Amino acid sequence: MATTRPTPRRLTALTTLLLLGLSSSASALPNNNNNNNNNNAGLQLRANPPSSSTSPSPSSSPSPPTVTLISSSQDSQESTVFIGRALPEFAQDLFLGIKYADEPRRFTSSTLKTRYEASDSDNASNAGTSASSTSTSTTPQQASGKNVVYYNATQYGYDCPGYGSDETTLVNAGLTRLSENCLSLNVVRPATVTKSKTQTQTKVTGAGIQDNEEDEELLPVMIWIFGGGWMQGATSDPRYNMSYILHQGALNGKPVVGVSINYRVAAFGFLDSKEVMESGNTNLGLRDQRVAMRWVKENIRAFGGDPEKITIWGESAGAYSVGAHLVTNDGNNEGLFRAAIMESGNAVGPPWNGTEWYQPMYDQIVNKTNCTTASDTLECLCEVPFETFYPLAYNGLEWFGTIDGTFIKEKPQISITEGRFAKVPILHGTNTDEGTSFGTTGTNTDEQCIEQLIASKRWVLDRDQATHLLGLYPNISAIGCPYGWGNVTWPSRGYQYKRYASMAGDLCMVAPRRLLSTQMAQYEREVYAYRWDVAALNQTNVIGVQHFAEIPFVFANPDQTITPLGANPARLALGNLAARMWTAFVTDLDPNGHGVKNIPQWPRYTPGQNPSNFVFRLPRTESYVEEDTYRAEGIEYINSIAR
Ligand SMILES: *[C@@H]1O[C@H](CO)[C@@H](O)[C@H](O)[C@H]1NC(C)=O
Ligand SMILES: *[C@@H]1O[C@H](CO)[C@@H](O)[C@H](O)[C@H]1NC(C)=O
Ligand SMILES: *[C@@H]1O[C@H](CO)[C@@H](O)[C@H](O)[C@H]1NC(C)=O
Ligand SMILES: *[C@@H]1O[C@H](CO)[C@@H](O)[C@H](O)[C@H]1NC(C)=O
Ligand SMILES: *[C@@H]1O[C@H](CO)[C@@H](O)[C@H](O)[C@H]1NC(C)=O
Ligand SMILES: *[C@@H]1O[C@H](CO)[C@@H](O)[C@H](O)[C@H]1NC(C)=O
Ligand SMILES: *[C@@H]1O[C@H](CO)[C@@H](O)[C@H](O)[C@H]1NC(C)=O
Ligand SMILES: *[C@@H]1O[C@H](CO)[C@@H](O)[C@H](O)[C@H]1NC(C)=O
Ligand SMILES: *[C@@H]1O[C@H](CO)[C@@H](O)[C@H](O)[C@H]1NC(C)=O
Repeated sequence: MATTRPTPRRLTALTTLLLLGLSSSASALPNNNNNNNNNNAGLQLRANPPSSSTSPSPSSSPSPPTVTLISSSQDSQESTVFIGRALPEFAQDLFLGIKYADEPRRFTSSTLKTRYEASDSDNASNAGTSASSTSTSTTPQQASGKNVVYYNATQYGYDCPGYGSDETTLVNAGLTRLSENCLSLNVVRPATVTKSKTQTQTKVTGAGIQDNEEDEELLPVMIWIFGGGWMQGATSDPRYNMSYILHQGALNGKPVVGVSINYRVAAFGFLDSKEVMESGNTNLGLRDQRVAMRWVKENIRAFGGDPEKITIWGESAGAYSVGAHLVTNDGNNEGLFRAAIMESGNAVGPPWNGTEWYQPMYDQIVNKTNCTTASDTLECLCEVPFETFYPLAYNGLEWFGTIDGTFIKEKPQISITEGRFAKVPILHGTNTDEGTSFGTTGTNTDEQCIEQLIASKRWVLDRDQATHLLGLYPNISAIGCPYGWGNVTWPSRGYQYKRYASMAGDLCMVAPRRLLSTQMAQYEREVYAYRWDVAALNQTNVIGVQHFAEIPFVFANPDQTITPLGANPARLALGNLAARMWTAFVTDLDPNGHGVKNIPQWPRYTPGQNPSNFVFRLPRTESYVEEDTYRAEGIEYINSIAR
């Protein structure tokens, strides 16, 4: 799809143009038959006919969308005009690469950004720097402000340096560039957020110059936090392209604003040691996310988003992160979000180990950088140039979050069991065969299973716990993971492959999901659990429904080729259903308003009386509801372990 490069000019009839753009191209997009525009609140994407006769041709170059933020202090008023990019084929506006924090000094906290220079944009070179020197039109109100900064928000910004095949793929494909100056976010919004009533002016004004508040129809917001083991990940990853899922929401009459946030990963985001602990700079990646969430809370109104209707949403380490934001601050979420979506993960599951555990990893980096004899080793690490530091900070090490007594005060299993977490509506789930992604090959005997359970850095189990667990997961191939394959085994992966995978999947994903479902439902009615039972396209020797399998569906993106959704219409239809459920939840706190026929009701999670999961199946009409009672003894035991 070609992207039109907008030439700056007057913002007239932009809404009209975008409306035309949608109706003329909608059939080319993944589209379900149920575009029920009639019974929903919110903006009607296609209900507003062009209000003037000046119907511009869709082929003419549209003006870029802009959003203005005003920051005023006693002596001055500054406004920043974010120049975005129109995406008429989706009827969306993109604002990409917006810094929510300046480049932090390595291994120190980021701070919320409130003032902008044009040069803050990673695509600064073409942006003007002041009102008088630019040809970009603004509203009279904007032009009269002092110090107008134009910020080029047309491209994704730098992604944060990490390690792993995903990041390598993106860099090699030219899809991203890495820099420590990476704390940016992206906003994708339906273009109709600029209301037709006021379309001769940009409706999307900063809080300081809003004069028509009662006219405003602010949209719910979903904030995407990518996964990648807290080791890698990028908002520019095409698999996380929010255009398609938001488009499904809009077609369903539930338009929402999407935001994706970058945060520091690997050692840059999760370094720990006694030195780091003393400096107070632990869990930096999670703290970055919190800063980004604050930025959204304070600024999203200018983009047409409702700061009171924010849902945070993540997968894998992104879901671990969402879980961490539920338990941090003793569960006081400071109004930063009203709901949460977690795909495969929550605060319980990743290893939350302390400083002692990470110290050897820190010492190794200190050694490799020749910082050993420095009087302040952490300071020394900060001064090593990035190019030198980046390869030395890897060395196969995995960094997870840490119990630091401040951001994460205690093991999250304790917080969740004892009710110290944010009580908000949640939608969350796991994939059927997570264990095939988190287990291992080569376990042949009971003793090898026990050794592996103890040795794996992920579980942090002791021998007694591992032995007890083994007793609850008998070596019977018909009940092992991948599930539902009867007596089939894969001896080349070890005689106890299926048994170990069953334990692994429950330890890191399924048991924590059930624990949070059960605990959250004590306080909240709107708790929805799912099991994703549709495999990603089977191109390799992947078995079963692995971790990440749901991502191409939820993002409903048939175009990206990294983890393809596949061209089968039934797969597209299932993806569109999932995307509509997610956006319906963001809008209604209930996924059932998806508008697709012949889909069973997704029940609330009700511990004590048939707690149930929605099971996603292909074709989508074969999705069903199951009781969430399987592997009860093993899961209950796992959920009793403080971790
Ligand atoms: C702008 O962004 C594009 C795409 O990410 C990149 O190739 C280009 O180098 C950037 N321009 C500047 C001036 O940074
Ligand atoms: C923003 O940056 C892009 C990529 O460098 C460039 O093509 C475009 O002209 C710039 N837009 C403005 C308004 O400066
Ligand atoms: C999503 O992908 C489409 C097609 O490649 C592209 O035009 C669009 O800019 C992307 N949207 C975002 C938010 O990256
Ligand atoms: C971290 O893991 C190590 C090794 O498994 C263990 O000895 C230690 O007790 C753990 N520490 C915490 C705080 O869990
Ligand atoms: C560390 O010191 C050794 C020996 O002097 C040298 O070869 C190496 O390049 C140094 N490494 C760094 C990161 O400075
Ligand atoms: C790094 O560790 C090795 C092995 O313990 C040691 O020989 C070397 O002197 C250390 N290097 C520095 C710079 O501390
Ligand atoms: C699996 O093997 C057991 C023992 O041989 C047998 O009783 C059972 O019927 C088999 N199950 C399936 C699904 O083939
Ligand atoms: C475990 O189950 C596998 C698959 O059925 C079998 O080959 C193996 O002998 C069993 N091992 C033990 C120790 O029972
Ligand atoms: C995936 O492919 C492998 C290898 O061809 C095959 O053994 C397996 O059954 C397939 N899995 C699924 C879920 O189709």
